[in-house]
Amino acid sequence: MNTVKSVRELRAAIAQARSEGKQIGFVPTMGNLHAGHAALVAKAAQRADFVVASIFVNPLQFGPSEDLDTYPRTLVADQEKLFEAGCNLLFTPDVEEMYPHGLAGQTRVSVAGVSEGLCGASRPGHFEGVATVVTKLFNMVQPDLAVFGQKDYQQLAVIRTLVRDLNMPIQIIGEPTVRAEDGLALSSRNGYLDAEQRAAAPALYRSLEQIASAIRAGERDYPGLIAQAQQLQSAAGFQPDYLEIREANSLRPASAEDRQLVILVAAFIGSTRLIDNLVLELDA
Ligand code: PAF
Repeated sequence: MNTVKSVRELRAAIAQARSEGKQIGFVPTMGNLHAGHAALVAKAAQRADFVVASIFVNPLQFGPSEDLDTYPRTLVADQEKLFEAGCNLLFTPDVEEMYPHGLAGQTRVSVAGVSEGLCGASRPGHFEGVATVVTKLFNMVQPDLAVFGQKDYQQLAVIRTLVRDLNMPIQIIGEPTVRAEDGLALSSRNGYLDAEQRAAAPALYRSLEQIASAIRAGERDYPGLIAQAQQLQSAAGFQPDYLEIREANSLRPASAEDRQLVILVAAFIGSTRLIDNLVLELDA
């Protein structure tokens, strides 16, 4: 696996793979990789002949009081995991390479609709930062397909919409969330948790399962279910950010008639903000 830092080297290596008739798969990341990322790379390796991954902690998607400076950077361990998962080429640009003309005047990509509410409300500018960097990375790599985790459910919806609305010829693949044995969704931010918080954290997913099993049993009092689940979360030490039941494709608030639902949560444990979701398909 080669690691390149410049767009020029990236394009040259991809042009070589293309000249050999290879299909290009792409997995953009911010590094500090875990088994969830390895699953994205493995999926790309299954579906494409040449897998490109990127590691770039994108300043444009962090708010002023967020964890940009402390976000873990673990390049050597990441390279090993990527290689083992089947990555062929790693792109690790620095901020100057990605934004050579600075951040202030950078052209931005803004996706209407699915970016609004949920994380879009709690993290103003976040999805504009994500959509901008993903557009730039897509233009640099020009992949045939790209793989993203379903853990960032709203992000995946934003990227699907972006690709559709800007006519990008890229297949977007969503890969299921990888969980620890106790149910906690794997996340780079889990590393911020102390032992007590880590022990309490699986309550977040349990609260989603509680809502899902009540809905499967026929309950449709969504506000009531959300209040009960928030009790479970606060008993475990979480401070709520949002907990919502949405229609799974459009992300509009769910009605009692919807059959494809997603329950989405963001909550703080100490100063760490965790997100998770659960997709629920009801029989017609
Ligand atoms: O999901 C992430 O790690 C990031 O938001 C992404 C898609 C790599 C863009 O910076």
